[in-house]
Amino acid sequence: MGPGDLDRALCGLPLTTHPNLLVGIERADDAGVYKVRDDLALVQTVDFFTPIVDDPYTFGQIAAANALSDVYAMGGTPITAMNLVAFPIQSMGIEVLRAILRGGLDKMREAEVVLVGGHSVEDQELKYGLAVTGLIHPDAILTNTGAQVGNRIILTKPLGTGIINTAQKGGMASSEAVQRTVELMATLNRRAAEVMRGFHVHACTDVTGFGLLGHLCEMLGDGKIGIKISLDAIPILPKAEEYASMGLVPGGALRNREFYAPKVKGANICPPSLLDILYDPQTSGGLLIAVPEEDAADILRFLQEVGIKDARIIAEIIAKPKGRLVLV
Ligand code: CO
Ligand code: CO
Ligand code: CO
Repeated sequence: MGPGDLDRALCGLPLTTHPNLLVGIERADDAGVYKVRDDLALVQTVDFFTPIVDDPYTFGQIAAANALSDVYAMGGTPITAMNLVAFPIQSMGIEVLRAILRGGLDKMREAEVVLVGGHSVEDQELKYGLAVTGLIHPDAILTNTGAQVGNRIILTKPLGTGIINTAQKGGMASSEAVQRTVELMATLNRRAAEVMRGFHVHACTDVTGFGLLGHLCEMLGDGKIGIKISLDAIPILPKAEEYASMGLVPGGALRNREFYAPKVKGANICPPSLLDILYDPQTSGGLLIAVPEEDAADILRFLQEVGIKDARIIAEIIAKPKGRLVLV
């Protein structure tokens, strides 16, 4: 199933409701949030997928970093996780699974998250990920909507992981480009989330399956604002544009484009390979953080000081055109 398929399947079904459910699935946000006390809420999310790199240990790290990211994107602190495993035990050695789980555990340790359990099933196709629980104060929840006119949007990781992975599968990617991409995907969004906590942030999400433009479209919310995107400012992985121009673009980028293009103005001024990158589905992508204009430069400086060198101010919230992204 692709991004959004589960939401479509649930559409129209009688959803469960509860007064303590602060962020539910109808909000299409990064994670669900449930209030347990006036000063405490649970942040819950789950993500798992098939391998995107050959090395099982690295795959475990990336899958864990990706699953943890949705808690950071809500402003929460992840505390516990459970392994989700689908494994072809008839055809693959148990040491492969051990390496994956070791990668996941190392990321959990880095994130100071405790493994509390898990579940595995036999499957033809290997899959791994985590169900993650975090904590947050109900007043500190950052949803993906809530950005205000004049806010700047900061992106904390460069784009192009889907394109580099596609090139790698086709045997076309340079080892440096692959190495850089793997490191990026395995990097937790924890430091960025910690920097964010020191400021007044209006909205946050992470860039994953819908690509940059898809997730920015989600930030439009009910369409009372527009977002102006500075193409020159977008951080991009080395070689991603080159591989995109060679047609090494994942199918998900084309699906994202079909779905979100009606909300995007100015695509005609954008080079085709850059447009592919803007729609490229990301694995364990960066945070998109909407902040008041006067704080944007300070946040950027703090992000770079903690080692997030690729962070950039990439967009601005505008009053018109409403409900549209504008590429400039
Ligand atoms: Co997310
Ligand atoms: Co997710
Ligand atoms: Co959020």
